[in-house]
Amino acid sequence: MVDLVALTLRYLHIAFGIAWIGGLAYGVGVLRLALPRADPPASQGVLRHLIPIAIRYIPFAAVMTILFGAVLYLYMGVFDPTILLGSIWGLLLLSSLLLALGTFAYGTVWGIGSAKKFLTHLEEEACDHRDVVVGLQRRFNRVQIGALVLGLIIIGIMVYVGQAF
Ligand code: HEM
Repeated sequence: MVDLVALTLRYLHIAFGIAWIGGLAYGVGVLRLALPRADPPASQGVLRHLIPIAIRYIPFAAVMTILFGAVLYLYMGVFDPTILLGSIWGLLLLSSLLLALGTFAYGTVWGIGSAKKFLTHLEEEACDHRDVVVGLQRRFNRVQIGALVLGLIIIGIMVYVGQAF
């Protein structure tokens, strides 16, 4: 018989995982390349509206992915430390949990920190800190790419765990 609890947790975990890593992939693969091609006033106008939403959307999707993943891990491991900590399955998932928490912390501190500072410059009437703004933009792009790579590694572990055990 189908385990409805596991099915629901797995569905929510994967759906939020797509929202999180898909959001990063869209930022890196589309927005990062498209926005510099627009006129500066147009791209700045878009960024003024986009950043406040993105810095709420990405952390929310990340927290929900990690939360449902952690509950699924505990549920599938029947809350038994010998399975959760004493099997390859459990240790691979525990490593993913730590990696996902690290990715979240890295993205929040560096990525969202830079995006917020960038936004304050965008909102200035006449900003004459061009070097600082370019530096923040570069750092934000680097963090997005780094978080995406870490997310893809985590997906690789997930797919391996799903196939191998
Ligand atoms: C970037 C973050 C993550 C993404 C995108 C993600 C995605 C996925 C996907 C696509 C699957 C299905 C794999 C398959 O059946 O082939 C899965 C399974 C699973 N994930 Fe994640 N995951 C992430 C992080 C985590 C974290 C932090 C945990 C917590 C331990 C976790 C726990 C699980 C568990 C327990 C399964 C089921 C494994 C099994 O079938 O044996 N995931 N995840």
